[in-house]
Amino acid sequence: MKKLFVKTYGCQMNAYDSARMADLLAPLGYGPADDAEGADMVILNTCHIRERAAEKVYSELGRLRQMKNEKAGMLIAVAGCVAQAEGEEILRRAPQVDLVVGPQTYHRLPEMIARIARDGGHAVEADFPALEKFDSLIETAATGSSAFLTVQEGCDKFCTFCVVPYTRGPEHSRPPEAVLAEACALAQKGAREIVLLGQNVNAYSGVAADGAHWSLARLCAALAGIEDIARIRYATSHPRDMADDLIAAHGENEKLMPYLHLPVQSGSDSVLAAMNRQHGADDYLRLIERIRAVRPDIALTSDFIVGFPGESDADFEATMALVREVKFAGAYSFKYSKRPGTPAAAAKKQVSEKVKDERLQALQALLLAQQDGFNDAQIGRTLPVLFEKPGRDRSQMVGRTPYLQPVHVEGDASLTGQVAQVRIAARTANSLKGRLI
Ligand code: 5AD
Ligand code: SF4
Repeated sequence: MKKLFVKTYGCQMNAYDSARMADLLAPLGYGPADDAEGADMVILNTCHIRERAAEKVYSELGRLRQMKNEKAGMLIAVAGCVAQAEGEEILRRAPQVDLVVGPQTYHRLPEMIARIARDGGHAVEADFPALEKFDSLIETAATGSSAFLTVQEGCDKFCTFCVVPYTRGPEHSRPPEAVLAEACALAQKGAREIVLLGQNVNAYSGVAADGAHWSLARLCAALAGIEDIARIRYATSHPRDMADDLIAAHGENEKLMPYLHLPVQSGSDSVLAAMNRQHGADDYLRLIERIRAVRPDIALTSDFIVGFPGESDADFEATMALVREVKFAGAYSFKYSKRPGTPAAAAKKQVSEKVKDERLQALQALLLAQQDGFNDAQIGRTLPVLFEKPGRDRSQMVGRTPYLQPVHVEGDASLTGQVAQVRIAARTANSLKGRLI
């Protein structure tokens, strides 16, 4: 058995792709390895979203070059969004790399590996052959009680800071039948929760065999009909694509969890306009009101960028004001990072690192206080928890509340894949503690 190590950077869609690459290479005799040391093949599944993420890849490649010197025949592949964005350039900077494969072409890996074995040299495949990829994905090998399922890829929004429309290509939705078949297969392998993934997942519009266009809400309704699936989630959404039927689904579809990740990026109308987000701060607040009207307890999370070009103190204050008004259950926040080829990278009024640091600190302190407040509010409640795996302390099991909070309880592995009622007793820094009822 040859050993394959896949290192995943970035988003959940990369995690899904990494699992599919491992599945694709299993028939070639590759089994999973825990680290790169001694592996026959290493795949770096990369992220290009911010500068730091892309830089990490090159330092990791430096480390791998030394390993490859000691292990003849080791294959190094760069996959994901850095591969898509840089293509051949990667081979110039890092000649130890054998394969470069984009997010839409990794199904060709077996054929690329065979080509290198036969002809030597390198193989680069980084085009956008629409959805050919999904047709060649074979059965998934294993899954936990929560499984990712990519239903939509790419983005047509072109926010001015973002590389995704360039690295992941135009929006494309998988047909509902294919999604439902994959969900059934995952359920058979033990998945109780399906997390539908897409760069712009709520723009999902899958064309069924009869020609009908399915919305994400309709897809969730059909998934809810699969008995073994207890929970449905989806990520990541754009405020502009929160359709009426999707909002309504949060009040009607009992398997759809009360959790929504809805990036807003900024609370300033002028920054939102410069970002090309296609909505204002008030639009977002009104949208949140409508969602809370059908599902008052919903956990809302978001993404924020501080220090976008031209962001003034008043703009940043508007972001803080929006956060205070919404009260988020959690959020990711980032300093603006210039990405080559995006419109904002060329803007003249860049914000200094020092100001970005100050704003990030202030925003993160506020968001953390809100997150702690949301978690504290669960203490004393009894919640259904889907158990996933043993905790670091082996007498414990870890699961998730409907609001996606991790919960530790005393219990054994027989709980895996079960939804059980847990009384929440306390909060630690990043999780909750409770006991089984
Ligand atoms: N700089 C900083 N953050 C960014 N994001 C996307 N592009 C950039 C960038 N150039 C953030 C956004 C997005 C999240 C996935 O990453 O907040 O929602
Ligand atoms: Fe990037 Fe904007 Fe598309 Fe999200 S909606 S992937 S931030 S371009």
